[in-house]
Amino acid sequence: MTDPQIYVFDAYGTLFDVHSAVARHREAIGAQADRLSELWRTKQLEYTWTRSLMGAYHDFRALTAEALDHAAARCGGLPAGLRLPLLEAYESLDAFPDVTPTLQALKAQGRKIAILSNGTPGMLASAVRSAGLTDLIDDCLSVDEVVIFKTAPEAYRLVLERFGALPGDVSFQSSNRWDVAGAARFGFHTVWINRGDLPDEYQDLPPGRTLTTLAGLIS
Ligand code: LAC
Repeated sequence: MTDPQIYVFDAYGTLFDVHSAVARHREAIGAQADRLSELWRTKQLEYTWTRSLMGAYHDFRALTAEALDHAAARCGGLPAGLRLPLLEAYESLDAFPDVTPTLQALKAQGRKIAILSNGTPGMLASAVRSAGLTDLIDDCLSVDEVVIFKTAPEAYRLVLERFGALPGDVSFQSSNRWDVAGAARFGFHTVWINRGDLPDEYQDLPPGRTLTTLAGLIS
């Protein structure tokens, strides 16, 4: 295997903990907090795929709000005044603890580091800034540019256009197995960061490597 020089990361679930928004308001939400957070994420992703298939793009910030509204309705509603704070929390999610040391080490090795995400440029800039990652990331690529979500090949192609690279030059890291499948199909080297210790799927599109945290990238 060649040694890829460009390390591209998925954002939500891989660098940023999508459940940290609800976690910050766990007490106010109460017993439905975990269900709300799971439904919120599941619906958000579902909307990206259905809208991509329909050719009816709404950006990821809009879909995140639509998904929260649906999840909240299924959980008996949100406590008064919590909708906006939850959506704001999504702009400054916690980064997982392995993110900063791993990116620092990759950068010290001279690798290019980028994000490729369904998130809007504004959401990504805000998340990167609030997690203190600005100096570690060379570029944030958003599917907003191609108005179709991952796993469409157009989304992964953004990386090649940005870096003038070939698929084999790229190592793509995601905790989302569906995203690893899309990236593998596109021709990237792939690493599945299986943070949730989930069973494998998409058997015909296996990851090049499977790790439980990002730290394994540099060990
Ligand atoms: C991302 C999501 C959807 O593209 O995880 O960042």
